[in-house]
Amino acid sequence: MTTPEFRVAEEAARAAGAILTRYFREGVAMRSKETANLVSDADLEAERAIVEVIRRTFPEHEILGEEEQKGNAEAEHLWIVDPLDGTNNFAHKVPHFAVSIAYYRAGEPACGVVFNPIRGDWYSAVRGEGAWSNGQRLLVADHTRLDEALVGVGFYYDRDLIMEATLRAISDLKRSQIHGIRRFGTASLDLGMVASGLFGGYFEYTLSPWDFAAGRLIVEEAGGRVTTCLGEAPPIGPSSILATNGTLHEAMLAIVRSRHPGAVA
Ligand code: IPD
Ligand code: CA
Ligand code: CA
Repeated sequence: MTTPEFRVAEEAARAAGAILTRYFREGVAMRSKETANLVSDADLEAERAIVEVIRRTFPEHEILGEEEQKGNAEAEHLWIVDPLDGTNNFAHKVPHFAVSIAYYRAGEPACGVVFNPIRGDWYSAVRGEGAWSNGQRLLVADHTRLDEALVGVGFYYDRDLIMEATLRAISDLKRSQIHGIRRFGTASLDLGMVASGLFGGYFEYTLSPWDFAAGRLIVEEAGGRVTTCLGEAPPIGPSSILATNGTLHEAMLAIVRSRHPGAVA
């Protein structure tokens, strides 16, 4: 499984992962962008390292990153980058965070990697060639009913409407007898868990494109389905996300759509 863009994505993730690992072990000061939304020199330095690796091979490509890169989302060649997904885990010394890098061609995901540098876990996909984790082919769960599934969820930093909507959707899912609900705090890795068949589904009402751009392709290439929580194709922009093994999609969509806060597509 390889393309020139995929090789660059892997190299960039490795470079960022080394920076995150060093800061994670040595400690770094966290600052607040807004309540509970943190940033540090680790995020900034990791994003700069990713940009350097991409620009070395593809100087003409646009880059949309969480921290400093505000590239044109409509560009033919677009990289979508979260240098540190799971900042809150990172800040609290929980080793569950990742670098997420996707390459989109003409508005469609062409390849993506999600890398947890502390665990050494890779989730990767190339469009049309499948999804892989540490050398193993990824396949979504074979559940056919919600009462067989563990479900992942994420909360945006909002403590108001979106939080309430999320809690209502969780109640509905629990009443549908899912095995359990999990909130691990890193959207890109949550998507990796859907792709690996550990979660039957995952949803979140507000995400940024860098949270899901790579993970979305990894789920699709593992045989799953990804839409917004209203059932539409995910945009290259802020959005809700529902990712499932495919078979559970309509059942989960009925629940998350009915509790949708209505603020985002
Ligand atoms: C966050 C994480 C979290 C999700 C939030 C994201 P960040 O990204 O992916 O799991 O629930 O919505 O913003 O801020 O740690 O890069
Ligand atoms: Ca993120
Ligand atoms: Ca981030």
